[in-house]
Amino acid sequence: MNGVSGRMGYRQHLVRSILAIREQGGVLLSDGTRVQVEPILVGRSEAKLAELAARHDIEHYTTNLDEALADPRWEIYSDFLVTSARSAAIRKAIAAGKAIYTEKPTAESFEESLELARLASEAGIKNGVVHDKLYLPGLQKLKRLIDSGFFGEILSVRGEFGYWVFEGDWQPAQRPSWNYRSEDGGGIVVDMFPHWSYVLENLFGRVESVYARTATHIPTRVDENGDAYAATADDSAYAVFELEGGIVAQLNSSWVVRVNRDELVEFQVDGTLGSAVVGLFGAKVQPRVATPKPVWNPDLADSHDYSSDWMELPTNDVFENGFKTQWEQFIRHVVEDAPHEYDFLAGARGMLLAEAGLESSRTGRRIDLAPLDESALMSPEPEGAEVTDAAPDAASDHSSSVLSPAGV
Ligand SMILES: NC(=O)c1ccc[n+]([C@@H]2O[C@H](COP(=O)([O-])OP(=O)(O)OC[C@H]3O[C@@H](n4cnc5c(N)ncnc54)[C@H](O)[C@@H]3O)[C@@H](O)[C@H]2O)c1
Repeated sequence: MNGVSGRMGYRQHLVRSILAIREQGGVLLSDGTRVQVEPILVGRSEAKLAELAARHDIEHYTTNLDEALADPRWEIYSDFLVTSARSAAIRKAIAAGKAIYTEKPTAESFEESLELARLASEAGIKNGVVHDKLYLPGLQKLKRLIDSGFFGEILSVRGEFGYWVFEGDWQPAQRPSWNYRSEDGGGIVVDMFPHWSYVLENLFGRVESVYARTATHIPTRVDENGDAYAATADDSAYAVFELEGGIVAQLNSSWVVRVNRDELVEFQVDGTLGSAVVGLFGAKVQPRVATPKPVWNPDLADSHDYSSDWMELPTNDVFENGFKTQWEQFIRHVVEDAPHEYDFLAGARGMLLAEAGLESSRTGRRIDLAPLDESALMSPEPEGAEVTDAAPDAASDHSSSVLSPAGV
């Protein structure tokens, strides 16, 4: 486990996932037996690792990644490092023939993330990328609504993600400062579009194009040492995604917004037969037959309580921590070849979408995305993204390929 001293590595992956799995006696396999996990903590600071190991009764830790990778006792390499340090470590783990499970984004660029997918495929190793948002209770409820046919034809998705991240001067920031420096792998597009990629493709359909406008609304922030720094990365992104089947998804991602919703992320899905609003936990619906008939009248204050027109869905299932659930799936994938489809290629699609979003914002143009499937693992020059003008009459102008050098 590389990077366990970090925010995600410690809380979600070590404590909530691997230690919880160890505590419950391991991962249940299809034959009714259990496979137990034994972690080794890897990091740069021996003192920090020793403290974590003692705190959680963990026998193994090391500052030498190469040695750990060379040791056949350790079967899965997992990575929660800062994004900029990830691909070098993953390349080593691929060369060592380990199964690999990693945080997103898999690399800092689409080209590198696709290269990692290719290398992993060539090496024949099992590989997985965190898709945690799909495991949120609210999104699980949404999936159930979609599968039930509740929506009829889905027309649109609108999503709001975000909250105010303090600038760091009069109150410490609640996210690491590297998030706000593009030279260190930061930026909300690179952080959130990989999530939007797998959320959209798994719930609604393939992302066919993106138009995005990013902004760095707060140009100067204060870091962990109290020093002011230039925020070079985007802290907000306003994007429209066109999906397979004609669904339009409009998602705002922002660290510069004050929350006026029930949860830090919320999606509204409108369909011909009904609508839903889901968050991390909650989900409420309004079917077609219970839809009120508002009439626009600016002369009269509207006394109708629109929020009372929605019905909260019950929580019929016990939802475990999503990181843990996905870890268990991945371990079953490694041990007994059970399915786990969220692989490095899905991770590469996440970075493709992030780069397309950034490109769209730079050029002011909509970026079309060609499918990125298994065939991309074979060919060094896959089909990829190309630019079209947003105006319909210019949509046939596919001349300039923007995401080089893979031509994507
Ligand atoms: N799935 C999610 O919802 C989610 C949420 C937040 C972050 N993330 C991802 O998790 C990763 C870690 O983010 P975080 O917020 O935990 O960051 P963090 O800064 O809290 O932790 C980063 C870890 O990397 C280590 N590290 C830093 N620089 C390094 C270097 N040069 N070489 C080796 N190790 C180094 C740090 O010691 C620490 O252990 C990022 O890739 C981020 O995109 C995912």
